Amino acid sequence: MNVAAAIPPKDPMLPHLYRVTDVGKETPDTFTLTLKSAEGPNGSIFQPGQFSMLWVFGVGELPISISGDPAEQDRLVYTVRSVGRATHALVSRRVGESVGVRGPLGTSWPKALARDRDVIVVAGGIGLAPLRPMIYEVLRHREDYGRLVVLYGARSPRDLLYRKELTAWARHGETQVLATVDYGGLGWRGHVGVVTTLFKYARLQPDRSLAMVCGPEIMMRFVTQELQNQGLSRDHIYLSVERNMKCGVGLCGHCQYGPHFICKDGPVFSYERIRPLLERYEL
Ligand SMILES: Cc1cc2nc3c(=O)[nH]c(=O)nc-3n(C[C@H](O)[C@H](O)[C@H](O)COP(=O)(O)OP(=O)(O)OC[C@H]3O[C@@H](n4cnc5c(N)ncnc54)[C@H](O)[C@@H]3O)c2cc1C
Ligand code: FES
Repeated sequence: MNVAAAIPPKDPMLPHLYRVTDVGKETPDTFTLTLKSAEGPNGSIFQPGQFSMLWVFGVGELPISISGDPAEQDRLVYTVRSVGRATHALVSRRVGESVGVRGPLGTSWPKALARDRDVIVVAGGIGLAPLRPMIYEVLRHREDYGRLVVLYGARSPRDLLYRKELTAWARHGETQVLATVDYGGLGWRGHVGVVTTLFKYARLQPDRSLAMVCGPEIMMRFVTQELQNQGLSRDHIYLSVERNMKCGVGLCGHCQYGPHFICKDGPVFSYERIRPLLERYEL
């Protein structure tokens, strides 16, 4: 008998039980949660850019990107901004409490295509969360990639995620990290302005670069335009797109985006593939 055939396939709708092992405050409304499997060492292997459906028992289920280091396979890390009922319940979990996890789900950043190229990461707000695993990947396998350029925009200094890490990443060789805020306030000596204003300070080699972008859709429209102005070709620009989700596995149609289902065809798409959709504002 074929043993593999005898093992029933995992039901993608069934969550695995995880426990919260750490909750860290990033900003006044954003927290990073570390989860470890409560079902033994079943592994938490994911690719940078993927997401999970997280069950907050008694409240609901929601899609959240995995923001941790892909090399740390005994845990899953998520950075969550509290914007409504489910996210508020999630960031209010205490150490030891349970969360159901489905996934990892969806497409990932194109690691193979980025090999030997400079990687340009452009993030707005919570959009840095799904890009952080890719930054870890590049820094861990420095010899596989060219330069790393991180351009990050947030509303104000107190909304900047991972502040200590931004400083630490900038200390690596062949790495440039630039952050900007919409409103600086007293004491802020950094850049002020939208994230596209950082391009004039970035040392880019467009013909040998691949860009990965995540943030509000309006920001991604301006950033993709600027990347093309800088000389990047459309097929070397990748974006992560969000929509409301229910099933997370291509069954319900909730996340439809033109001909695509974001949960299974995305969330990471090449700009070439979704350009007509991104340029239509009301989709
Ligand atoms: C693939 C994917 C990955 C995501 N990754 C993250 C992540 O890493 N961290 C994180 O904090 N959030 C992430 N989100 C968004 C998160 O799923 C929503 O914020 C959450 O579902 C809102 O649920 P709620 O009940 O708290 O708020 P609701 O009461 O449902 O909504 C509160 C407010 O947030 C808005 N909202 C709801 N869903 C979204 C959304 N998807 N995008 C933008 N605004 C929304 C609503 O319009 C409303 O204004 C992701 C979404 C997707 C689709
Ligand atoms: S969330 Fe159900 S099809 Fe994508």
